[in-house]
Amino acid sequence: MKTKISIFASGGGSNAQKFFEHFVQNDTAEIVSVFTNNKSAGVISRAEKFNLPIHILNRSYWDTGEIPISILKEEKVDYIVLAGFMLLIPKALISQYSDRIFNIHPALLPKFGGQGMFGNNVHKAVKVAGEEVSGITIHLVNEEYDKGRILYQESCFLDPTDSPEEIGAKVLKLEHKNYPKVVESVIRKST
Ligand code: GAR
Repeated sequence: MKTKISIFASGGGSNAQKFFEHFVQNDTAEIVSVFTNNKSAGVISRAEKFNLPIHILNRSYWDTGEIPISILKEEKVDYIVLAGFMLLIPKALISQYSDRIFNIHPALLPKFGGQGMFGNNVHKAVKVAGEEVSGITIHLVNEEYDKGRILYQESCFLDPTDSPEEIGAKVLKLEHKNYPKVVESVIRKST
């Protein structure tokens, strides 16, 4: 039996797309559903092209997590992958899926993490700090923002003239190259 993964995304869904492509024919795992809190998220049309069930649940559903948890149970989901999911994961969901929720952060944690640090805010902060490198952090999710166990990091050099958007583009390339592969290798080791 293949391991079942659900993807949570709030935005454009370019990372989600990489997961759909990577796991479409894969011996280890399959993507079984997508959750979003945003009814106009780009990830919706991407998921439709792969014929994946998509659950659009607005913010109110994420306070207790009761409904998402019951759907995940019904779908027999083993792992959750956060791919640009912008809401806090409810405590009940984290304890149900302890060490089985992955996140990617678009910087080298522990720097540039924590509440409010998402998307372009991160790249702006990296720019303001005059960093010479940035990169990605793939980690497990626990109850504190961006504090779960780090599984993988990769860095890229920045040019002093790079804008936040240019930093973001360099980082996104690393995300696409690594995120599905790292998740697959962690799942393989634990099954
Ligand atoms: C990605 O850069 C991801 O690292 C970031 O949101 C973007 C989503 O892009 N996540 C966070 O900032 C989480 N704190 P995508 O929708 O194109 O995959």
